[in-house]
Order: sequence, then structure tokens, then C-alpha cells
Amino acid sequence: MELREAMRTAGAVRRFTDTPVPDEVLARVLDDARFAPSGGNAQPWTVLVLRDPEIRRQVRDLAVLGWREYTAQAKAGVRPFAPGPDGRWRGAAVDLDEAAATPAPMSFVDELDEAPVLLVLVARLTALAVMDIELERTSIVGGGSIYPFAQNILLAARGEGLGGTMTTFLVRREPVAATLLGIPADHAIAGVLALGYPQHRATKLRRRSVAEFAHVDTFDGPPFPAPSED
Ligand SMILES: Cc1cc2nc3c(=O)[nH]c(=O)nc-3n(C[C@H](O)[C@H](O)[C@H](O)COP(=O)(O)O)c2cc1C
Repeated sequence: MELREAMRTAGAVRRFTDTPVPDEVLARVLDDARFAPSGGNAQPWTVLVLRDPEIRRQVRDLAVLGWREYTAQAKAGVRPFAPGPDGRWRGAAVDLDEAAATPAPMSFVDELDEAPVLLVLVARLTALAVMDIELERTSIVGGGSIYPFAQNILLAARGEGLGGTMTTFLVRREPVAATLLGIPADHAIAGVLALGYPQHRATKLRRRSVAEFAHVDTFDGPPFPAPSED
């Protein structure tokens, strides 16, 4: 598949057909994705290919709790788990324990265990060069050594005719999930990727135009590219 087309059409897919994904297809996806960049070429990723139905169900159950916490905040009109203007977490606008105990049906997460492919993406923390580690705001750089790999998986999946979505709900229950999955203490869960053959694929993704996010020289500089004069 042509690269530009893949980049422009690899939208989130959350509903899959029942067609299983052959191991050789998934192996190709991971074999292409591994060429992702990472700080110092640390390649800090480990991928857990979840097969055991009981492990899958437990991962789903933990992810459901994260989803409930997320959606309760969205319903309350706040961006879920967003830091404040100083870049620090100020606590949730809703009672998270109550949110986690309140059912909030959503087929994607409720049926996460049935996704044809379920990958847990794990990052070795001690391999990361977290250049913003001393800043008092929420760190963002460390994730840069793992999320390009995640996007490469989604793009490689697109190239194979698959679709998928990354989810981060499980991270809300990382200690329990780490015990379940045998993840060592110096590792973090970066996300869970669900992949499969799509039931539908969005034909046009809603994304901001370049001129809305690119500026010349300074944050409030003129948009790039410059608007045409005619
Ligand atoms: C870091 C990250 C975390 C995400 N977490 C979730 C998630 O937990 N659940 C989910 O359904 N989608 C998740 N997504 C997918 C986004 O919702 C999706 O990329 C975005 O809404 C654009 O959707 P579209 O491609 O259909 O336009 C995540 C995406 C990223 C990059």
C-alpha cells in the first residue's frame, strides 16, 4: 500500500470481523513496526500477544474500569485525565471510585477480550532518555520512545488490510495488570492495541489542517503555509 494513503486512512477501528488474523500476518506487522525510532535507539518495547482467554478477560475487566473513569469525566464536561494549565495533575473533577463502580456500556471495551489480536505494549523505563524528567510538568518525552512504535504497528496493520486502535485504559490499573501479566517493576504499560479485519473503515478522517497547527518562528507566528492571496 502506498505510504501516503496508509497514513491518511489508518483511522481508529474498533469493530472487527470474526476472521482470525494469521500469525504470519501479525509477525509481519511487528517485523515492519520494529524499525520505529526511539531515543538512543533503545528500542525499549516488549509486546505481549494475549492468547489466553482468561488473561484476555481479566485485561478487559481492568480496562473497563479505566473506561468508566474516563467517560465519567467526559460526561462532567472535562477533558479526562488532562493536566491543569501548569502541566500538573490536579485531581479528577469526579469521584473516580464511584465512576469505576458505575457501569458505562461501550462495546469496544466491553468486548475487548474478543478482539482478534490483543497486544499489550510494555516499555522498559530504565532504557528511556526522559529529557523532561526534571521539569515539574507532566512528562511527555519518555513516551516518544514507545509511541512511534505503536503507530508503526497501526500503519503496518493498515498495510496488511487490518485496522485497530490503541487504548490506554489498562494503564489506570497498571499494578494489578503488571502482576497478571508478569511485567517486571522497571517496566510500564504504554497501551493495549486491538487489531483485526475491520467491519468498517472511515473514509475521511477529521484532522486539523496544517495551517491550524503550524506557525512560522513563534507559537503565535503566522500560519504555515501562508494563506494564498487569491
Ligand atoms: C495515546 C492514545 C491513546 C488512546 N486511547 C484510546 C482508548 O483508550 N480508547 C479508545 O477507544 N481509543 C483510544 N485512542 C484512539 C483515539 O480515540 C483515536 O486515535 C482518535 O479519536 C482519532 O480517531 P479516528 O482515527 O477515528 O479519527 C487512543 C489514541 C492514542 C494515540
